[in-house]
Amino acid sequence: MLNTTKTERRKLRTKANDFLQLMIDAGEKEILESSEIDKKIYLDDDTIDAQSLLFLIAGYETSSTLLSFAIHVLAAKSDIQNKLRTHIKDITEGKEMSYELLAQLDYLEGFLLETLRMYPPLARVDRICTKEYILPGTSIKIEPGNVVAIPVYGIQMDPDIYPEPNEFIPERFTEENKKERPSHLFLAFGAGPRNCIGKRFAMISAKLAMVALLKKFKFSLCEKSVHPVVFEKKGILLKAANGLWVHIENINQKQD
Ligand code: HEM
Repeated sequence: MLNTTKTERRKLRTKANDFLQLMIDAGEKEILESSEIDKKIYLDDDTIDAQSLLFLIAGYETSSTLLSFAIHVLAAKSDIQNKLRTHIKDITEGKEMSYELLAQLDYLEGFLLETLRMYPPLARVDRICTKEYILPGTSIKIEPGNVVAIPVYGIQMDPDIYPEPNEFIPERFTEENKKERPSHLFLAFGAGPRNCIGKRFAMISAKLAMVALLKKFKFSLCEKSVHPVVFEKKGILLKAANGLWVHIENINQKQD
């Protein structure tokens, strides 16, 4: 698909207002402005393809993974589901949805962050060492160029950081409780200058989706549900081994 689109746009000189076009233009700019023949083309075709794929995985699969696990939690925990529905109703009923209204949904925010703690779509982030470092209290030396894997899932399920890690507790993410933990101990969106660029957008879209779903549907476990979740061992993103199955009931059926 990418190859066809790139070829078509280059041949016909057509332009679109999208991410792919930005990259095609950036790549071409380098070629046109280059006076030296061997000047490196920063965005070559492989880079454009890799970035396009990464954006799809980074932007869509992560958000849909969060929503899938969130719905599984709702199905498994009816008390939390009821509390969340009442919370949403209390804050949003009769009002037009807005950014400000979404910001008031603090229990929903805690619910989503707790889902991301127990089910981080990216269970590991990597960094490349730039400066020699000896792990404190050990003789383990990390050399420049070494890849360091940071175990997001391991950190977020560590009982010394999150007591009773297998318990789903949205209140762990109230403003007061968050202040008590160093912020880098929640790593579902990574940390530092290369953390997730889509973090705010992801939280807003997930909140909007949850508001719409909870107003209309009730979720419960069904025969095919597996709880606690068993994870797939392979894969880029965290995934349930046999999928996430729930029973969905339309609670507005009579009115609809
Ligand atoms: C629940 C949803 C999401 C989760 C859990 C998530 C998680 C992450 C994580 C863990 C990283 C790596 C951070 C690091 O290495 O420190 C990352 C990077 C990134 N994410 Fe997200 N993400 C989500 C949604 C999105 C969305 C909606 C977009 C785009 C609209 C996006 C775009 C990116 C990009 C471009 C990067 C690479 C940033 C860089 O290297 O500078 N993500 N994300």
